[in-house]
Amino acid sequence: MFADKIVLTGVKPTGMPHLGNLAGAIKPAIDMSNEANKAFIFIADLHALNAVRDSNLIGTWTHEVAATYMALGLNLEKAALFRQSDVPEIYKLTVFLMNVASKGLMNRSHAYKALIAENEANGKDTDFGINMGLFTYPILMAADILLYNTDLVPVGKDQKQHVEMARDIAGSLNNIYGEELLVVPEPVIQKVAAAIPGLDGRKMSKSYQNYVPIFAQQKALKKSIMKIVTDSKRPEDPKDPDESTIYQLYQHFASKEEADAMRQQFTDGGLGYGDAKKMLFEMIDKTMAEPREKYYDLLAHPEKIEDVLMAGAERARVVAKETVDRVSKAMLGRIV
Ligand code: ADP
Ligand code: TRP
Repeated sequence: MFADKIVLTGVKPTGMPHLGNLAGAIKPAIDMSNEANKAFIFIADLHALNAVRDSNLIGTWTHEVAATYMALGLNLEKAALFRQSDVPEIYKLTVFLMNVASKGLMNRSHAYKALIAENEANGKDTDFGINMGLFTYPILMAADILLYNTDLVPVGKDQKQHVEMARDIAGSLNNIYGEELLVVPEPVIQKVAAAIPGLDGRKMSKSYQNYVPIFAQQKALKKSIMKIVTDSKRPEDPKDPDESTIYQLYQHFASKEEADAMRQQFTDGGLGYGDAKKMLFEMIDKTMAEPREKYYDLLAHPEKIEDVLMAGAERARVVAKETVDRVSKAMLGRIV
C-alpha cells in the first residue's frame, strides 16, 4: 500500500516511551516504514530544546528512543534512523521557510494557543514562558518533513495540525518560486489506537503518571499491571470488554483469536479481573521478552546506537542537500 511512498516521522526525546506510544505511534510507524519505498525516522532533539534544559537528559532520551525503534524491528535497510541535529541542512531550510511562513499561521497553533490560554487563566502576561523555539516549532517541523520529499507522515491526532501547517508552508513556497520545489505531504493519523487507556482509565500519558513503560522489567511490569483500576464486579459477573482497560491493552498484544476469547469470557462472565490481569501481564511479558533484551543490550553499548544514528544521518543528508540546493537556487539564485 505504501510501496512507492516516502514515509517520515519524528519523535521528541522527552522520556521513556510507554505502551500508549507503542500502539499509537511507534508500532504503526515501524510497520509503515517497513512497507514503504523509503523511510526517515528521526529523534527530534532540536524540538526538545524549547522545554528540556538538561543536555544529559536529551542525550539519554535520544538513545532510549533510538534503541526502542531498533529493538522493535525497524528495518534499517529501508529506514534511515537518525538524530535531527546531525543533518545541518535542517538549519538552512528552516531559515528559508521562515520567510514564507506567515506569523498568523503560527498564532493559530493549538499548542501555542493552549499556553496563552493557560497564562491568561493564571493572570500572567500572555506570552509568559513562551520562547521563540516554541512559537516557531511548526516551522522547524515543516522543515523536517519537507527536507526529505516526504509523502506520508504517520502522527498522533495532536500533531495533525503541524503537518497541515507543513502543507501550507510548502504550498506558499511552491506558489512563489515554482510548483515543483517541495513535495506537499499528507498526515496519516492512527485512528484505531487513538487512545490507549492508562492504569487509571484515562488516556495513558507521561503527564498523568499512569503509564506502563514499554521495556519495564518483568517485576515492575507485573506490579504496574496489577495496579490497573477496575470496578467492583465479581468474577462471575458479565463485563463490557470495551469499558475494560485490561481488555483494551490485551487486544493490542494478543492474536485475534486470543483477544476474541477474552472478549467472550468478559461478556459471558466467569473471568475475574485478577485473572485477566495475569493474562495481560503474561501476554505483554511474552511479546516483549526478545525486544526487551535487545533494548537493554543496546543501551549497554551506546556505540552501537551511535553507529546506526551516524549512518542514518549520512543517508538522510544526501536527500536533504538536494532539497536545500533546489530551494536555495530558487530563493537566492545560487547554492549556499
Ligand atoms: P505523552 O502523552 O505520554 O506525553 P506524547 O504526547 O509524547 O505522549 O505522544 C507521542 C506519540 O504517542 C503521539 O503520536 C501520540 O499520539 C501517541 N500516544 C501517546 N499516548 C497515547 C495513548 N494513550 N494512546 C495512543 N497513542 C498515544
Ligand atoms: N512534533 C512531534 C511530536 O511532538 C515530533 C516531530 C518533530 C515530528 N518533527 C516531526 C513528527 C516531523 C512528524 C514529522 O510528537
